[in-house]
Amino acid sequence: MTLFFAILFYVAAAVFVLGLATKIVAFARTPAPLLIPTTPAPTTKGGVVLRMFREVAFFESLFKSNLWIWIFAAAFHFALALVLVRHLRYFTQPVWSWVAFEQPFGMYAGFAMVAGLAGLWARRFLVDRVRYISTLSDHLMLALLLLIGISGLTMKFLVHTDIVGVKMFFLGLMHFDIQPLPADAPLYVHLFCIALLMIVFPFSKLLHAPGVFFSPSRNQVDNARDQRHIASWAAKLEQN
Ligand code: HEM
Repeated sequence: MTLFFAILFYVAAAVFVLGLATKIVAFARTPAPLLIPTTPAPTTKGGVVLRMFREVAFFESLFKSNLWIWIFAAAFHFALALVLVRHLRYFTQPVWSWVAFEQPFGMYAGFAMVAGLAGLWARRFLVDRVRYISTLSDHLMLALLLLIGISGLTMKFLVHTDIVGVKMFFLGLMHFDIQPLPADAPLYVHLFCIALLMIVFPFSKLLHAPGVFFSPSRNQVDNARDQRHIASWAAKLEQN
């Protein structure tokens, strides 16, 4: 199993990094010929940066449009951030002091993460019009994330795993020196689902995370009356 997971994580890391880089380059190259910021929109670049910050840090537009979804989405995403920070201890030696300080918050955030996901999934069954537009992939992504959260909480609170062994395995992988992986069912489930998540991430709806930065309706300045908007490729055509 050690070798299986070692190869799986190398493949998953390569697909994740290369897939994400390819998608981000494609997003960056996609022409935005028209000025289409969602109004009311900022009229300066500084204003756009501030708006983008509020969108990414607080999900501002979701808050304004649907408070229920915001509560579940915020619970999931903020908790996920804390959980991921807590996980840095498996990849760093010595563990950074701020990561050590954050440990208890990250641990209980696991529950908020699972509760948020459960709420987001329940909505896809309970709200008629959302159920109608939900596809199999919407359900599978939520199921995968829930399984990761539940298997993680199982290891933390029910069936303990050898976390020093897990750390040795991942530090070893980072130095191309394969160390034995502890043999525990919840750990296998946790790691298998994470590798799967890394592999599907660049081709899934989860791309909304980098995608929000490239959304013309969010990242454009509302200055149509002051300045002529012309895409760089269109400017080149005009010169010729
Ligand atoms: C390769 C990456 C990862 C490794 C090696 C890993 C490993 C672990 C281990 C060993 C535990 C048990 C902690 C303990 O017993 O003290 C755990 C818990 C947990 N994991 Fe992961 N995990 C990884 C990635 C993730 C990801 C991407 C997520 C979320 C999407 C996640 C969510 C959780 C949660 C919610 C818990 C329970 C709360 C906690 O102890 O932090 N894990 N993980």
